[in-house]
Amino acid sequence: MPTLDWIGKQAVVNHHKDVPFHLLKQNHALSVGESDSGNLLIEGDNLLALKALLPYYAGKVKCIYIDPPYNTGNENWVYNDNVSNPAIQEWLGKVVGKEAEDLSRHDKWLCMMYPRLVLLRELLREDGVIFVSIDDNEVAHLRCIMDEIFGQQHHLATFIWKSRQHIDSRTKTRISVDHEYILSYGKNLGIQLRGRERDLTKFSNPDNDSRGDWMSRSILGLATKEQRPNLYYSITNPETGMSYPPPKNRGWRYAKETMEAKILDGCILFPKTPSGRPREKVFEKDLKQAYTGFPSVIDGIFTNEGTHEVRRIFGEQVFDFSKPPQLVKELIQQATGSEDIVLDSFAGSGSTGHAVLQLNREERSSRRFILIELEPEIARYIAVVRLRRVIEGYIYENQRGNQQHEFGLGGGFTYYEIGEPLFDAQGFRKEISFEDVARYVFFTETGAPMPESTDGKTPFLGCANGIGVYLLYEKHWAIGENVLTRSVLNCLPPYDGPKVIYGTSCRIGATTLKREGITFRQIPYDVRRV
Ligand SMILES: C[S@@+](CC[C@H](N)C(=O)[O-])C[C@H]1O[C@@H](n2cnc3c(N)ncnc32)[C@H](O)[C@@H]1O
Repeated sequence: MPTLDWIGKQAVVNHHKDVPFHLLKQNHALSVGESDSGNLLIEGDNLLALKALLPYYAGKVKCIYIDPPYNTGNENWVYNDNVSNPAIQEWLGKVVGKEAEDLSRHDKWLCMMYPRLVLLRELLREDGVIFVSIDDNEVAHLRCIMDEIFGQQHHLATFIWKSRQHIDSRTKTRISVDHEYILSYGKNLGIQLRGRERDLTKFSNPDNDSRGDWMSRSILGLATKEQRPNLYYSITNPETGMSYPPPKNRGWRYAKETMEAKILDGCILFPKTPSGRPREKVFEKDLKQAYTGFPSVIDGIFTNEGTHEVRRIFGEQVFDFSKPPQLVKELIQQATGSEDIVLDSFAGSGSTGHAVLQLNREERSSRRFILIELEPEIARYIAVVRLRRVIEGYIYENQRGNQQHEFGLGGGFTYYEIGEPLFDAQGFRKEISFEDVARYVFFTETGAPMPESTDGKTPFLGCANGIGVYLLYEKHWAIGENVLTRSVLNCLPPYDGPKVIYGTSCRIGATTLKREGITFRQIPYDVRRV
């Protein structure tokens, strides 16, 4: 497969591994609504935030929607030009080193995106789907790195979103660019989107047919007389004797015997005049699927709806080019069930959170969202405020200047900031809790999040891939020991299979460990720090 190269690529392809693990620090004052909603809004660089989420959510996220900076080169629009963000500039300097001075706008964008996409992939469930919004500035580059990271064979579609409702006549080229793209990939092969709901409004029962609601459908086939002579014949209405020939160049959809059976069943609708064309009844009950294909051209939802939504919630235009929640909702609906987790690591004004809350209200579902936003001003004063208003309800002024009440969607979210790194020069930082150490150890050992059932009261953290993982850590009250001795081993909760035990030292001989199927790992030396 051809791959894309750029200045700085070597420095970033494995950079996700070097990103240190940090804790996430809860901020109660900025959290809103139900505390057990499971929704998170994280303030900080998504590179650190995504890494911090791994011990909790690796392989658990069903749908990712991101709308990264499009890299338009428009310095005036800070959110769309990540290059101008001082934090990202500094990060590039550190990670790419001297080469960073030669980076073009596109090199920088690729360096920024690559490690973040790698971490996003790690968070995705085996049957998960990622959607990435983008425009012409970076679509070609994005496609190349998505193919590289997610696998070309997992590309589901490049959707065309017709984002502009009205023609733009001001462009230099006189071309009105009316669309953006949404690249989508599954984590594995065989992943399907749900499809669009069928439009059942066309079904009714004007003649009280005992088989229920129906709609009429053409019975013309696609084949010509020459191609399928058996489909080319005249149909006769048995009640009137009127005969209806097919058009000159096309036959019917069914062969004569099938057509006669349908006539006997009362499924063929005959017109009153011989010049009309018979049609058939299609019954709602016979539809094989409730959904039709999801079109790769998304039409009917426009950028200005996102703009109006923000203006309605805030009373002014506090954020440009917010995505319409309706668009994000459509995508989420395509890729998730009622309990799934949705992640947006370039959250901006929080439209993905808004979409999840709307969907939960409409479908009585309990989907959860995780949002990450770099800029504190956007996270705190735009995303938080927006989500609080849509959760609790708000008053807005309609176009006629009248006050209207928008009812709250309910729910809530917990606000987090990026906290301290897990390690200092000696090992785990002193103030880190047993649970945080446990989550970290379990994840780095197994690549999976620690099971929910682990209560932090026992050194047995759970099992994954057939291996039981134990942690003897000084803060653990029940054992009070972090040295593996015969007596400690005797009081560990049993696990029938190979075990990995973490502790500060081990006083059991190698032969016994082998016989008991135990691998001992020494804290802090054997703990992977990144
Ligand atoms: C195009 S906007 C997203 C808009 C969003 N979809 C909405 O509807 O409001 C991109 C956002 O990503 C944020 N961002 C850029 N780099 C980031 C990073 N490294 N970590 C987290 N957020 C970042 C920007 O601050 C900006 O708010």
